[in-house]
Amino acid sequence: MNNPIAGFSKLSKEEKINWIAKEYFSSPTDAIALLKNYWNTDEKLQKLHDEFIENTITNFYIPLGVAPNFLINGKFSTVPMAIEESSVVAAASKSAKFWSTRGGFKATVIDTEKIGQVHFIYKGDESKLALFFAQIKNKFFSNTESITKNMQKRGGGILDIKLNDKTNLLPNYFQLHATFETKDSMGANFINSCLEQFAKTLKDEAQGYALFNTEEKDIQVVMSILSNYVPNCIVRAEVSCPIDDLKEKQIENPLDFAQRFVQAVQIAEVEPFRAVTHNKGIMNGVDAVVLATGNDFRAVEAGIHAYASKSGQYTSLSHAKIENGIFTFWLEIPLALGTVGGLTSLHPLVKLSLEMLENPSAKELMQVVAVAGLAQNFAALRSLTTTGIQEGHMKMHLNNILNQFDTNDTERHAINKHFKHNTVTHSAVVAFIAELRK
Ligand code: MEV
Repeated sequence: MNNPIAGFSKLSKEEKINWIAKEYFSSPTDAIALLKNYWNTDEKLQKLHDEFIENTITNFYIPLGVAPNFLINGKFSTVPMAIEESSVVAAASKSAKFWSTRGGFKATVIDTEKIGQVHFIYKGDESKLALFFAQIKNKFFSNTESITKNMQKRGGGILDIKLNDKTNLLPNYFQLHATFETKDSMGANFINSCLEQFAKTLKDEAQGYALFNTEEKDIQVVMSILSNYVPNCIVRAEVSCPIDDLKEKQIENPLDFAQRFVQAVQIAEVEPFRAVTHNKGIMNGVDAVVLATGNDFRAVEAGIHAYASKSGQYTSLSHAKIENGIFTFWLEIPLALGTVGGLTSLHPLVKLSLEMLENPSAKELMQVVAVAGLAQNFAALRSLTTTGIQEGHMKMHLNNILNQFDTNDTERHAINKHFKHNTVTHSAVVAFIAELRK
């Protein structure tokens, strides 16, 4: 049984580590040494990371890789990807190279509208509330001027505010549904600040509204928060080429390949069990770029999966067709991203990633992220419909096994040579290492 602790957050970092080491580890000194081994020797840099969150004890590394040769709307980019899964960057790079000689990726931002809501309880006459809202609507804008001033200078701000009656879903439940343009920032703080001011205006104005009775004046705000579901903040990415141009080493019969590929996408369109895995493959690319560029991958994940279910059934985010001898593969996803604010100016590697992408606008970053998702999906479906996924996966995974067994350079050389021509499985590699070490 471990002991609870009071005031943990007030302890120094050393004290926190000492407590954890003593409480949870058979060898506290080893645990402390490991945690400290991951500290950055540059104290200023370490302090920056310590202060990103509460109770930091060390850093948790995942690799930052790059996928070069992404031709997007006629311009080449090298895409930074932060991800731990061994095959993802290799797959993205392979797709990027493949499409770079077939016209590249086309990406378009369809819309950039963000959403936030004030959820409240109003017990009274609905028509009076509607009249009240219409009469005070301007106040929501004027009372948030100090918050919106800078955003307006950048061409953004509050787009509209609507009153929604949700009493068919929950007794006395209404909401203010507001839409925003946040330009190059993801806008979470901006939106939430506006919403909290809307909530205050709503309550204050209701108190003084002559047509409301006492109960109606007492509007109860439950919460004010942005929505991570942004179905009108959408980007589309596409690749297409004549069927014959698909031909290469692993694609000897391009028509057969294209047909099989389209079928694989159609299966994901109609079968949720497959759709989830199919979309997971898209998210391999999306999340890796989102993370490398300091954006909120949980928000992106939540929003994208909600979008995949917008018809009432969870379905594929990507689509494919063959028409008049042309193979086309595309996806449309919602992405609320920022290239200013948040971690973008704080985390040195985020800054580096953005610079590598030539300091994109939020719209340009949306395009890169969608393309990375499409590239990843293409690579996965290409493997799945040709060689199967394990061949490539296990080749990449081989390195992880070699690290697990702490192999030296000579062993690695022998193992890599052997598995160039033999199927990689965990047990085959383990057996080979055992044989080598006999
Ligand atoms: C693995 O991370 C992703 C895949 O499962 C995606 C897919 O099945 O399409 C390969």
